Amino acid sequence: MIVTQTRSAFSEKLRAMEPDARPEHEVAALLEAVEEIRALKKKHNAVVLSHFYMPAELQVKHEDGGIADFVGDSLGLSVAAKSVEADTIIFCGVKFMAETAKILNPVKQVLLPSFDAGCSLAESITGEDVRMLKKLWPGVPVVAYINTYAETKAEADNCCTSRNALEIARSLGGDRLIFLPDLYMGRNLQSKIKAETGKELILWEGKCEVHEQFTPQRINGLKMMYPEAQVLVHWEVPDDTVSDALKGAGGIVGSTSDIIRFVGESQSRQFILGSECDLGATLRGMYPQKEFIVPCIKCPHMKQITMARTLDALRSIGTEKEALFEITLEDEIIRNALTPIERMLAFA
Ligand code: 13P
Ligand code: SF4
Repeated sequence: MIVTQTRSAFSEKLRAMEPDARPEHEVAALLEAVEEIRALKKKHNAVVLSHFYMPAELQVKHEDGGIADFVGDSLGLSVAAKSVEADTIIFCGVKFMAETAKILNPVKQVLLPSFDAGCSLAESITGEDVRMLKKLWPGVPVVAYINTYAETKAEADNCCTSRNALEIARSLGGDRLIFLPDLYMGRNLQSKIKAETGKELILWEGKCEVHEQFTPQRINGLKMMYPEAQVLVHWEVPDDTVSDALKGAGGIVGSTSDIIRFVGESQSRQFILGSECDLGATLRGMYPQKEFIVPCIKCPHMKQITMARTLDALRSIGTEKEALFEITLEDEIIRNALTPIERMLAFA
């Protein structure tokens, strides 16, 4: 009976999040995996942390019949990872996020269901590159976006996420700062910071391969088709999109959480989403009475994480296959990356 209730709660939630109903055989296969994952979580004292860009089925919460113990943005997931008491964290997100969880809670086992879950931003810069920048600009504070690998963070003074980048940039003294690696987000921050404080940002050339596709042409075309809709764009979209996007019906440029909050507070019923496709699933699940126009651009890295691979990761615990999923970092990297990450959490 309990299993039947859990199954129907999961199917209902999934239906609310996705624009098209899934074929029954697909839902049935997901339900089989969900049931086994829930049992294995209990057996191994494990929790699942899941990002808002995960496929809808990985965002359904445990209490709604799914597998996720916490669903959030990269800042929320870092805060959650730090306080996990269970033995194992199964991280349904990308590698830099799972590394951050390991740095914040190094005594826990952190498993990532696919090591192919990278990130074009994280891959655009190394620790060596940061050392070179510090030599070029001695004494200038380095702010590393959370979308970097641990060895890059280990060279930074501060980390930030899209939710607190502006606040952190404002809080640092001096008339310059190095912000890396996202060029567009840096330019978007620069236009605010320069106007407020005159501070210059020294930028890197990294780009998010998903958000760079939200060009002014793409967003303006949708605005013409849906003139009443408000526009929701992430900080990582190109700066020329940002300067155009909000003209007319309004909207927000912000982090994933800012976007979610904005929709909840807005009187508008229709929105154009300029961010990862599955954030559309999150928004539909939270605000069923509102309509979301979503040009469906999926992050190929986030989509490496599937229900089947999450099950594989859990099945591996205590077997020789565990190493295929386990995040391991050198102690020195953990020590050096912890300080900038803790400084980021002071602004959570
Ligand atoms: P958030 O910090 O908003 O979770 O974004 C993560 C990300 O990868 C954006 O592309
Ligand atoms: Fe990286 Fe962009 Fe994917 Fe986020 S959406 S993980 S920034 S490639």
